[in-house]
Amino acid sequence: MAGAEIFSLEGKFAVITGGAGAIGSTLAKALASSGAKVFLQDLNLDGVTQVANEIRSAGGTAFGYANDLSDVTTVEKMISAAAEQMGGIDILINCAGINRRKPITEVTSEDFDAIVAVNMKAAFFVSQAVYPFMKTRGGGSIVNISSITSRYSFAMGSVYAATKAAMSAMARSFSTEWLANGIRVNSIEPGYVKTEFTKPVWGVPHRAEWFKRFVPIGRLANPEELVGAVLYLASDASSYVSGQTIVIDGGLTAGGDFDK
Ligand SMILES: NC(=O)c1ccc[n+]([C@@H]2O[C@H](COP(=O)([O-])OP(=O)(O)OC[C@H]3O[C@@H](n4cnc5c(N)ncnc54)[C@H](O)[C@@H]3O)[C@@H](O)[C@H]2O)c1
Repeated sequence: MAGAEIFSLEGKFAVITGGAGAIGSTLAKALASSGAKVFLQDLNLDGVTQVANEIRSAGGTAFGYANDLSDVTTVEKMISAAAEQMGGIDILINCAGINRRKPITEVTSEDFDAIVAVNMKAAFFVSQAVYPFMKTRGGGSIVNISSITSRYSFAMGSVYAATKAAMSAMARSFSTEWLANGIRVNSIEPGYVKTEFTKPVWGVPHRAEWFKRFVPIGRLANPEELVGAVLYLASDASSYVSGQTIVIDGGLTAGGDFDK
């Protein structure tokens, strides 16, 4: 019977977009410590360089790369560099993301396009670009970092929620076309994770109170609490799982308690 070794990523090559971010850097370090060579992409060159250095100092193999994913003409070059530097691509974590919290009536066409470009369009075209490399390797695993907002909405996040629902839908539609080539595509939908990205929420006292009352676990997640699901989906531990979503929400969507 296989044990923990089914989660091993020894000999695997992983690309993480948004690799300088709180969640992306945490996932990159976890993939590297499970044996993968990692290629961290971000808009923030200093950030990816620092994370890649930390991974190398800990004995891993990491490369940093900066480009703006909202310009999809830069994607092919980025993915070619990843394949060349690592020797191939087996794993892609689509983690780059942005939000602009506004009421629906104040969302501009520019806001809409900016959020769609990073969260949805880039995830689509980065996945498209890794396809030939994964096919050559005989398969691969793509994990879209979607969000609980694709099924449980919050005010001021209309466009963001739509793009995250699209990321989960893409995991299903890509799976129908690519599983025959051994490429599995899944998503995770985290609830609120305590990062700078969500500070406008947890940083405001009455909003922080909301988590205590309405999230059954009574708090936000830490980025480390996403690692288990991502290692599962990235590794052979999930070899029969594709087109699925793992919700990591502290019990939020399971239901509530009138007495809290
Ligand atoms: N924090 C949460 O509560 C939460 C919950 C669910 C899903 N998510 C998703 O997780 C991902 C990471 O979130 P985080 O909290 O670590 O935020 P973060 O801001 O720390 O990380 C996002 C990263 O994406 C990069 N990025 C933004 N625009 C880019 C572009 N045009 N090109 C390349 N890189 C770009 C940023 O530089 C940043 O490093 C996002 O996709 C977010 O939607 C976050």
